[in-house]
Amino acid sequence: DRSVKIAPSILSADFADFGREIQAIEAQGADWVHVDVMDGHFVPNLTFGPPAVKAFRRHVKTVMDVHLMIAPVDPYIDAFADAGADILTAHVEAGPHIHRTLQAIRDAGMKAGVALNPGTPADAVAHLLDLTDLVCVMTVNPGYGGQSFIDMTAKIRALRAMIGDRPVHIEIDGGVDPGTAPLARAAGADVLVAGSAVFRGGSVDNPAPYGDNIRAI
Ligand code: DX5
Ligand code: ZN
Repeated sequence: DRSVKIAPSILSADFADFGREIQAIEAQGADWVHVDVMDGHFVPNLTFGPPAVKAFRRHVKTVMDVHLMIAPVDPYIDAFADAGADILTAHVEAGPHIHRTLQAIRDAGMKAGVALNPGTPADAVAHLLDLTDLVCVMTVNPGYGGQSFIDMTAKIRALRAMIGDRPVHIEIDGGVDPGTAPLARAAGADVLVAGSAVFRGGSVDNPAPYGDNIRAI
């Protein structure tokens, strides 16, 4: 079902070759490019900040979907807008003022996403749905690629009912592979992030497996 978008996470790409990795996944059918920003504080891992994301932008022809696993968020919103993020997603757990953060993301000209850790209930976004373009349901505890899928079917269904006819995507992130994706699709997710399940078996010099992996999800 191609109305469901596949967003490969470059967390599983070759960190010495991001430009060619982005070109390869887009040539192999990626709908969006998912960029995981980690601060070593909100999550126990470090990745990259706005200057690196700005460099990725030169290669992304589809949609650059930037997932912030950082706290605080607000001081960096303008830097990620300048870096060229199309969608900027902040965690509801990252601070006390997510409502303000989502408004600021839209005011900076980006689409606003809100992410929920596995332990956070769907109700946490009940009063945010008119301020957001995407709800990201984490299906792992964030911080690393390659973890096992946590079934969030009930949360996804609850969100789909709460969203109603608003134009809000439900994205799932973590442990998505051909075995787990059908559960989330059936529950109502329409953007599937996948890292290890896209990049396994391929490389920039042998990108065909990326396409096979994308089509298998
Ligand atoms: C997890 C990140 C994910 C991660 C997914 O903290 O937000 O985007 O890269 O990787 P896989 O698909 O390998 O679980
Ligand atoms: Zn992510």
